[in-house]
Amino acid sequence: MQVWKDYQVTHKDRFLEELLELLRIPSVSADSSFSKDVKTCAEAVKLRLQEAGAENVEVCPTAGHPIVYGEKIINPALPTVLVYGHYDVQPADPLELWNSGPFEPVIKDEKIYARGSADDKGQFYMHVKAFETMAKTNTLPCNIKFMIEGEEEVGSANLGIFIKENKERLKADVVLISDTAMLSLENPSLDTGLRGLSYMEVEVTGPNRDLHSGVYGGAVANPATILCKMIASLHDENNHITIPGFYDKVQELSKEERDALNAAPFDEAEYKADLGVDELWGEKGYTTIERTGIRPTLEVNGIWGGYTGEGSKTVLPSKASAKISMRLVPNQDWKEISALFQAHFEKIAPKSVKVKVTTHHGGSPYVTPTDHVAFKAASEAIKATFGKGPIPMRGGGSIPIVALFEKELGLKTILMGFGLDSDNLHSPNEKYGLANFYKGIETIPYFHKYFAEMSK
Ligand code: BES
Ligand code: MN
Ligand code: MN
Repeated sequence: MQVWKDYQVTHKDRFLEELLELLRIPSVSADSSFSKDVKTCAEAVKLRLQEAGAENVEVCPTAGHPIVYGEKIINPALPTVLVYGHYDVQPADPLELWNSGPFEPVIKDEKIYARGSADDKGQFYMHVKAFETMAKTNTLPCNIKFMIEGEEEVGSANLGIFIKENKERLKADVVLISDTAMLSLENPSLDTGLRGLSYMEVEVTGPNRDLHSGVYGGAVANPATILCKMIASLHDENNHITIPGFYDKVQELSKEERDALNAAPFDEAEYKADLGVDELWGEKGYTTIERTGIRPTLEVNGIWGGYTGEGSKTVLPSKASAKISMRLVPNQDWKEISALFQAHFEKIAPKSVKVKVTTHHGGSPYVTPTDHVAFKAASEAIKATFGKGPIPMRGGGSIPIVALFEKELGLKTILMGFGLDSDNLHSPNEKYGLANFYKGIETIPYFHKYFAEMSK
């Protein structure tokens, strides 16, 4: 549509400036020393939604960080799209590995470098600017509701409560999210699923205090060694997970479905080179695309214990700990998996140590029905602006609230992400391509247009 194009060309630079301003606010949800910044960011999102043309815009307080809500109802008889995103970001550390300040966005090689540039400020902001485009050119084809939260990176616990308490306000026909990746701008893809998550912490305790490793070493089990052995035993020689019952409910895909997934372009040499590894690793019998999309996994996110400071200290630590997460696929239940993990971890502990297992948070996997009109609308929108239709893919990451949208609101979710896997999400030097940002703003109005037309 020419009016959209004209509007977006005219306001291109301002769109970017506004995003950079948002990126300068360190809205780190995990760290309470940033609580004020999180609040400031919520207020900034509210203001931007209002300026774009949204009504009833509100910063809704929760027991944690606030949720920003806004809407534009043009005609209750028309379909309604609920846009979800998150303005909170992951902590920026390790800071010394950033080439520029995580909250001082810079544009280099046509990419925006900043924490949150791709996950998710740069992506949800495309929706605000796409909405502005339609609102200011009087071309809004349907109703839009925005719900931008501040706790996605810490598990969305309060959003779950908000949804249950605001079912009427959140009534819609579909949820639209840009918080995932596509293969590339040349090979656009649409994620048809997200994995679930079960996040655990384990603590192994040996002796009742730290000991001199010369005096006691060799006579008392070292909890760090025991922990490493226990963790190592969680995968067998084929890299299958050894927790009894772990795979019982895993949905196996048909040969046709697997073939379709594996037809996506994937360059193993390039993948390895980008990551700086000489060999890939994973569950025997599955391809990399399958290992990161349709198969469950278990990862150590962090491990510590004993002396890790400068120089050396001879010590046999009293305790060693690890944070361990599992990615889940349909039809695994995260509470069930957490319980299986706990029982197994306690069972494999030798008598020489005690173990404590705690569950942090979790979430269910999700699969988008590809025969849904909104999935077709998203495919058509991508075709309109990329010149070719999207390849369906399974996303490896998790957005736990998506399963709740279905359970509590009865809504299906479309995952129309414009990022790239190589955007360094949660990692130093997070980036988002300018072309991805603008392409998203260009594509999203078509989604609304086609969704409204196809829903008739
Ligand atoms: N945007 C990501 C999820 C994502 C990334 C999905 C890439 C698909 C591809 C989201 O912000 C995220 O990081 N989620 C967390 C889960 C959360 C409970 C901490 C994740 O996946 O680790
Ligand atoms: Mn995200
Ligand atoms: Mn994230």
